[in-house]
Amino acid sequence: MMHRAAVSALLLLVGCQQKMADQPSYKPLTPCVFFADGRSERPAVAGTVARGHLQTDVALFSGRRTGKSGEPRGAIAPAVIQPQTGTSGAAKQKNDQYGDFVDAFPFAMSEAVLRHGRDRFTIYCVVCHDPIGTGQGKIVERGYTAPPSYHVERLRTVPAGYLFAVISEGYGSMPSYGEQIPVRDRWAIAGYVRALQASQHFPEASWPPGKSAGSGVPRAGEKSP
Ligand code: HEC
Repeated sequence: MMHRAAVSALLLLVGCQQKMADQPSYKPLTPCVFFADGRSERPAVAGTVARGHLQTDVALFSGRRTGKSGEPRGAIAPAVIQPQTGTSGAAKQKNDQYGDFVDAFPFAMSEAVLRHGRDRFTIYCVVCHDPIGTGQGKIVERGYTAPPSYHVERLRTVPAGYLFAVISEGYGSMPSYGEQIPVRDRWAIAGYVRALQASQHFPEASWPPGKSAGSGVPRAGEKSP
């Protein structure tokens, strides 16, 4: 008697286990007949944002004042942003061209951030732009399009958000680095580009005592000693 009860209990248990294993759910990527498109994997609802990927801060994520931050953009076309001319309309033209880019950095450019920016700049940008940013990197020596120097008037006066956008989206024949470099690192690089620009345009009157031009610091266009 005891024995039979034990056996049927065991059978029941097996039955239960089998039910649990055969749940009416689909394995990933298996076809199904329920939905018209035959896919058991349902497409994400429009506007779904993966956890941790909500980008509401337009300035931080795009360097711009307006528009959507996560918007996919192609490279900025050089035809859209023409080098400024020295005419009287230059100031207005400048506003029109760069007006949508933010001037301010979205977080403080501390020494640690700038050091990190230099580190990332050395990894990603030096190959083309060279260590001082004159546009004479090794790849350019081997025939790649020469980038403009960071020390030309136009690039010294563009808003910080524009530098960020060029890194994020690419510019003309420069590829975009939005995929490779995280957002805050791109800002750190933009900060370091600003530091490089300042290093080549530092009014001598404000130099520390005892320092003067030619005291061993390479200037734009000169080779490092
Ligand atoms: C593969 C070479 C290459 C790399 C790497 C590269 N650039 Fe460039 N960059 C260029 C070229 C070429 C141009 C000029 C493109 C043109 O005028 O069509 C340019 C232009 C620029 C400009 C000027 C845009 C303007 O308005 O004239 C900035 C700023 C810039 N790059 C920043 C960077 C930064 C920062 C990095 C590193 C994250 C970087 N670039 C990496 C090739 C490169």
